[in-house]
Amino acid sequence: MTTTLITNIASLVTNDPAQGDGSPLGLLTDAAVVLDGETIAWVGPADKAPAADTVHDAQGRAAIPGFVDSHSHLVFAGDRTQEFNARMSGRAYSAGGIRTTVAATRAATDAELEANVTRYLREALRQGTTTFETKSGYGLTTEDEARALRIAARHTDEVTFLGAHIVSPDYAEDPAAYVELVTGEMLDACAPHARWIDVFCEKGAFDGDQARAILTAGKAKGLHPRIHANQLSYGPGVQLAVELDAASADHCTHLTDADIDALAQGDTVATLLPGAEFSTRAQWPDARRLLDAGVTVALSTDCNPGSSFTSSLPFCIALAVRDMGMTPDEAIWSATAGGAAALRRTDIGTLREGTRADLALLDAPSHVHLAYRPGVPLVGEVWRKGERQV
Ligand code: NIG
Ligand code: FE
Repeated sequence: MTTTLITNIASLVTNDPAQGDGSPLGLLTDAAVVLDGETIAWVGPADKAPAADTVHDAQGRAAIPGFVDSHSHLVFAGDRTQEFNARMSGRAYSAGGIRTTVAATRAATDAELEANVTRYLREALRQGTTTFETKSGYGLTTEDEARALRIAARHTDEVTFLGAHIVSPDYAEDPAAYVELVTGEMLDACAPHARWIDVFCEKGAFDGDQARAILTAGKAKGLHPRIHANQLSYGPGVQLAVELDAASADHCTHLTDADIDALAQGDTVATLLPGAEFSTRAQWPDARRLLDAGVTVALSTDCNPGSSFTSSLPFCIALAVRDMGMTPDEAIWSATAGGAAALRRTDIGTLREGTRADLALLDAPSHVHLAYRPGVPLVGEVWRKGERQV
């Protein structure tokens, strides 16, 4: 195995509180990292770095762990430009637009879907994302959902079955029969290809009882739950997530004090998706309220053609800092270690001996510039599993 020393890092976010001043970001200045194959072998001050087979000069730039995007919907065809245009002229977002993408996705070939996933992943990688979760949810038949998961699984281990995105248009008259399909034949066909099961718990999609039935059936098949919860309105999703020990409750835009208390007491991460509020001109989730209550917060893109067509975590970080009350340090933690927590992973999102060698070098002296210089392509180099990708 060859070792690589990346040195001359002006400022390094490790997310290891044992490093630096003991803050959650574990910030080191004048730092170095040694990569050994796919893993991190050493992290510390540059003047104490051990020798390695090759040396890479970071030229005084900042480095951070690769972003962990714990929520995306990349297996789809087409886009929803017209719907976006209409929204920007005042129309409201609703779950109904999902049907447009379902029709386009069903009509697409495997090769077209595969090409789309590859393209959006490449976009994300260029912006520093080294791990991503992605979902089905635009097929809504047994065959189309299983196909989406098979395609997703070629690109990531973090695959989520979202047959319960909306009630399939084919079952518009009989939603109960659709829930039966999702918890029966569709789940049987999809469970082997996925790690997670998700439900869009919302008016116009699935109510609390339906969501509980679907997630419980998924758990019985060995899938772990996560929930689209409290996005468009107040509802039962967040408390159900905690009750079922879901890894994550995603969106969390409309929260009561009881929802916040439940999150603070449980192990469910609140995953905030500011791209969705940006692209639907909706109210921002209150990250400050969650953080002050002691809730673990993740930031993700929600990349999808309807509510949030961005693959950029730097963009989401800038929004979270500007509009959701997060400090730059908190936002960067949430897009790296927070995303890892939302996927219940300890091998990514942190740079310490033994974790995966995933990191981004920024064309900036500090990670704060990700929020301070919004819209500027600051991700200069991306290393994933010890290999330079960008
Ligand atoms: O997370 N909320 C449900 N699903 C997606 C939107 C999907 C779509 O509009 O196509 C979301 O925002
Ligand atoms: Fe989503």
